[in-house]
Amino acid sequence: MQLEIKSRIDYLRKEIIRHNDFYYDKNDPKISDSEYDNLIKELEQLEREYPIFASLNSPTQKVSGVISSSFESVRHSLPMLSLDNTYSYEETARWYERIKKNLSGEAGLEFIVEPKIDGISTNLTYVNGILVIGATRGDGVKGENVTENIKTVEGIPYKLRVENPPSFFELRGEVYINKLDFKSLNDEIFKIGGQGFSNPRNAASGSLRQKNPQITSARKLRFFAHSFGRIRGRQLRRQSDFLRYCQECGFQLQDDFKVCNSLKEIASFADVMLNKRDSLYYEIDGLVIKVNALKLHEKLGNTNKSPRWAIAYKFPAKQATTKLNKICVQVGRTGILTPSAVLEPVVLAGVKISHATLHNFEEIKRLNINEGDTVLVERAGDVIPKIVKVVKKDKEVFFKSPHNCPSCNSEIVKDNEEKVAYRCINPDCPAQFRRHLIHFVSRSAMNIQGFGKAVIDQLLKKKKIKVLADIYYLTYDDLISLDLFKEKKTINLLEAITASKKRSLSRLLFALGIRHIGEKISEIIAKRFKNINVLLKASIEDFTRIPEIGSVLALFLKRFFENDAARHVIDSLIAAGVNIIESETYKIGKQFEDKVCVLTGELRTYTRKQASEIIISLGGRIASSVNKKTDYVFVGKNAGSKLEKAKKLGLRIIYEKEFKKLIVTSKI
Ligand code: IVH
Repeated sequence: MQLEIKSRIDYLRKEIIRHNDFYYDKNDPKISDSEYDNLIKELEQLEREYPIFASLNSPTQKVSGVISSSFESVRHSLPMLSLDNTYSYEETARWYERIKKNLSGEAGLEFIVEPKIDGISTNLTYVNGILVIGATRGDGVKGENVTENIKTVEGIPYKLRVENPPSFFELRGEVYINKLDFKSLNDEIFKIGGQGFSNPRNAASGSLRQKNPQITSARKLRFFAHSFGRIRGRQLRRQSDFLRYCQECGFQLQDDFKVCNSLKEIASFADVMLNKRDSLYYEIDGLVIKVNALKLHEKLGNTNKSPRWAIAYKFPAKQATTKLNKICVQVGRTGILTPSAVLEPVVLAGVKISHATLHNFEEIKRLNINEGDTVLVERAGDVIPKIVKVVKKDKEVFFKSPHNCPSCNSEIVKDNEEKVAYRCINPDCPAQFRRHLIHFVSRSAMNIQGFGKAVIDQLLKKKKIKVLADIYYLTYDDLISLDLFKEKKTINLLEAITASKKRSLSRLLFALGIRHIGEKISEIIAKRFKNINVLLKASIEDFTRIPEIGSVLALFLKRFFENDAARHVIDSLIAAGVNIIESETYKIGKQFEDKVCVLTGELRTYTRKQASEIIISLGGRIASSVNKKTDYVFVGKNAGSKLEKAKKLGLRIIYEKEFKKLIVTSKI
């Protein structure tokens, strides 16, 4: 047993040292930060449980980092420490309570919470206000002398902008790179066939640790101050005073830091920052909570590796390594083939993910990935997860891009607009048709509620829909036989299909899924031409008269409306009763946006038709019967059973007087 423990400890120490080298020296990590932290945590726990195996040489006892032989080494005047991490509110609360207990005699204990910048730790030595040394943290005792590179970093003053600067000042902080600058840097590296950096931290580190300062200077590095080592000639009382003093000296401060008086305040600031994390222009990987009073730092002291007066509260990891199980190729609505990755499920930023985007086949080539490889994946914000790089190849075999459409087996061609994309040009490709159907019924197109993917897939399988217009010939029997369909659902869907016939021309145009024609341009075209029959006869000049339409798009539109297949689709939709006119009053307000409205009784001011048009123009949908799905019931004189039913169901009833008031703001 003891032997097993010892060999696990040896293994962990070796692994950590190996990964330190990838991370700190090569700026090319092979595991994610959280996986690295897990190795450390496991080792710390084993060393705690089996103290006979503890060693001062263990990576748990030392500040991690390297001093490359490419740089001269330089001794810090005071050691640069690391931080202990917590990963949950509970752990952080325990640290907080410990501090409170250890400082129980202290009145008015304050904390300061700062974002933890994901960059490279740097020590700037100012003598009489002049920058004399810029060094990396290195092993904490000695760092790499990168002074010439440091001088190129924006936001690091060569001369402190204060009168009577400290005679000696070791100012510490983080050199980092903005998210956008990181992306541009990687794009440039990709353009020349390079590998790129895994994340902004590696990019900052790789850029700062360059032999040639000119390269560093081109990399748009920046700096935030966060702590200090030795200082002579200036008395500081609190961390918050130190930050303000840095600002006076000419350093930029982070916008978000907060002095907190309780754990509750810390927790709510942590919530705010967790939500803000993705919208910040630089990468943060957590918060650093510090005791604010500097005299208490001395009282609490340090361990070998980290101060007791601060803790890093780490956010859920955004990157993780996992296995790429399969590369799937999907065919889009316009025939573009898009590869995507099926992953061994892994938790990223608190969410389990099993798919990642691959953009196109060039991306697969650039990443040199194939099924079976171990990859580093990242999830930032709401964006679909992406593969950052391969960390371990399964076999040295290249992924073979398909030569044929995976849906219809037709030959594929390189797209001449999106140069890196391949397209299936078979107009009858089933996968394209399925995608087109999904688009046609979607909320921003014909908005047929209840017509989801599952419904589409079943109807396609049963061959109930072969062309778009078939939607409008679906019967009660066709729908009632679908999975989970009962009478009510069937009737609702049939009603939704019928209601969609009245959608505006702009929605119809968008629903047709014409390449390059999005929602906005559909509206512009519909407003100009008003009727699809006019549009079908329009010349290139008619199109280019619209300021938003250039000659390329005009030619494209002309070709589309001349195309036999497109005309056939349009004719069949017209035959099915779909509206082809853009009414003048279309969408002039949003009062009834997506509300199901029923009219009953006689209105005095409007005919039934006029009232319906007004409701539609304000975003509403007209239904004929009152049920639970009805949002508004518009009531005129002599209303009968519909009014009774509306009252029973507790629906919102709008009489003519209120109706007029509601629509008056729309200038009808
Ligand atoms: S205070 C230990 N504040 O995180 C010395 N550190 O993982 C006190 N870091 O080496 C450091 N943002 O380079 C402090 N707001 C912040 C920070 C921060 C990033 C870095 C720092 C440290 C590392 C520990």
